[in-house]
Amino acid sequence: MHTAHFVTRGAEKHLICPASEACVAHNAGVVEHPCMPSASHLPSAPRVRPVVDGLPAYVAGRSAQTALTAALASNESHFPPLPSVTSLMETETSRIHRYPDMASADLREAIAAHVDVSAEEVAVGPGSSGVLQQILSAVCDPGHEVVFAWRSFEAYPILAAVAGAEPVRVPLLPDEQHDLDAMAAAVTEQTRVLLLCSPNNPTGVPLDAERTEDLLSRVPPHVLVVIDEAYVEFRRRPVRWMPWSSIAAIRTSAC
Ligand SMILES: Cc1ncc(COP(=O)(O)O)c(C=O)c1O
Repeated sequence: MHTAHFVTRGAEKHLICPASEACVAHNAGVVEHPCMPSASHLPSAPRVRPVVDGLPAYVAGRSAQTALTAALASNESHFPPLPSVTSLMETETSRIHRYPDMASADLREAIAAHVDVSAEEVAVGPGSSGVLQQILSAVCDPGHEVVFAWRSFEAYPILAAVAGAEPVRVPLLPDEQHDLDAMAAAVTEQTRVLLLCSPNNPTGVPLDAERTEDLLSRVPPHVLVVIDEAYVEFRRRPVRWMPWSSIAAIRTSAC
């Protein structure tokens, strides 16, 4: 079986199943290649959705340049994994021929105890962007809106669009705070998610806890508030999200 690749020709992307390594050349932009017919001659080739075709390319942070540097903007650490973590990983590799616990029960219990909620309130996924994608897919239908500050994490408009929703960008204030009043005003009947990022990526500015808690008390009940706390460890006074039921906090971790 061959891995499926996207081939780009002009503005169009075609999904094909390449049969040889030569297709790497195709992916690198060499359109005419003997291993397959030209993509433009494949009228029945599967097409990606127009919204996916129009997505901006995700621009990842720069990689670390030397062994002594870490790509902090990509959440890398200068410190290697703890020995307890690597030892556990080694132990676990001896059972990778089995499915893991699909419910991640032990992990969710441990996280729940750490943040003082019940395990039923915890979901885990492939990174917090994976969890966010699941949240957006679960609550948004085409035509629904996802409101977030801009500039913020560049995955937000991509994930909202992939979920079929309309990304609604609310500009940051001149001091790079979230404009919470403007965000509240941007909420409509079609809004399903209000997405906050604290501290904000890429500006590093945290949400003002009191003003955010005031906003939370005003958000209509049909709107799920998602607070992205990927960098919560850099925040002295995080938002208290406990009292609200229509709220999800997402966090990420690297060992
Ligand atoms: C604000 C913010 N949220 C979420 C993420 C995604 O983290 P993960 O790697 O867990 O998907 C990032 C990663 O850079 C981020 O900056």
